[in-house]
Amino acid sequence: MQNIGIAVTGSGSAVPSTFLDNHGLAEIVETSDEWITTRTGIRQRHLAKCSESLSAIAATAAARALESAGLTANDVDLILLATSTPDDLFGSACQIQGILGANRAVAFDLTAACSGFVFGLVTAAQYIRTGVFRNVLLIGADMLSRWVDWEDRRSCVLFGDGAGAVVLQANQSDRLLGFELKSDGSQNSCLNLAYTCEDQELIPGVSVSRGKFQPITMNGKEVYRFAVQKVPEIIDKALFHANLSPDNVDWLVLHQANQRILDAVAQRLNIPENKVISNVSRYGNTSAASIPLALDEAVREGKIQPGDMIAASGFGAGLTWGAAIFQWGR
Ligand code: UT7
Repeated sequence: MQNIGIAVTGSGSAVPSTFLDNHGLAEIVETSDEWITTRTGIRQRHLAKCSESLSAIAATAAARALESAGLTANDVDLILLATSTPDDLFGSACQIQGILGANRAVAFDLTAACSGFVFGLVTAAQYIRTGVFRNVLLIGADMLSRWVDWEDRRSCVLFGDGAGAVVLQANQSDRLLGFELKSDGSQNSCLNLAYTCEDQELIPGVSVSRGKFQPITMNGKEVYRFAVQKVPEIIDKALFHANLSPDNVDWLVLHQANQRILDAVAQRLNIPENKVISNVSRYGNTSAASIPLALDEAVREGKIQPGDMIAASGFGAGLTWGAAIFQWGR
């Protein structure tokens, strides 16, 4: 079989219009702009109201990505939605397909929390490499604000809502040069959005589970430690697969969880500050959306240029973490 390459040919993003800055948060919980800014780098986050669906915002980001790739909805073979906060537990990718009118596309959701975009990129790449699909729309979208405990100051200051998307296409030259993915379920309890339930007896001896999802719980210190240790390691591994070193990286595009994590990872890899893409101050942690949102802004600002070498890495609940090394454009 002929080797089929992969190119990332377009990007788009969208966020809800309403935002909450740190001063506003300080009216809800005992915190301060000074604490949040120094510990996380976050200054504000965009939040979706009830009338703003995840599918709608994801479809807006997706339409922008298609436009920038020069494709129409009808060209799309596969829509992959990385999310932990679908509008419907059966999945939201098909709703997005419907909004876009991408009638030929197969559509499904993929859940890997804040690693969802990188896991999705690698998943999309497998379909392209095997010749099954040629044009894939990969969307990372989350509305964690739906599941935040707004009385828990240790976590509610971190999260925001948004969506980002990229188009991956079959290409003569292969621009996806290396990747590595990892999971560690033994640390699952560090970060959860868990279903809890009680038994409801239907007839004697037959019960079903009746429950609901609980707000996000997080051991911030453990997640911080995990990220700062594992993310540089996995980027190094992905670079090794690509036969490259950190010196070859033009842009480090990490999951935007905390500015201190971005700085620490860059420092460990010896990648200078001016190569680190960061928009965490304006959006907070948007989970699966954060990498494509940061990528799209950097492309539209003209920072990321065709041919630039990007090291992207996501990390989060699961625990999961992953890295992908790719060149922007065809
Ligand atoms: O996608 C992955 C998602 N998760 C993450 O990326 C989280 C990674 N972890 C982190 O980013 C950091 O651990 C946090 C930003 C969550 C917390 O920063 P920290 O430097 O680890 O703070 P801490 O948890 O050690 O708390 C220090 C102090 C505590 O007070 P005491 O016990 O020292 O008196 C907290 O109670 O800060 C207090 N604190 C706050 N104070 C004001 C915790 N949250 C707040 C707050 N405002 N929002």
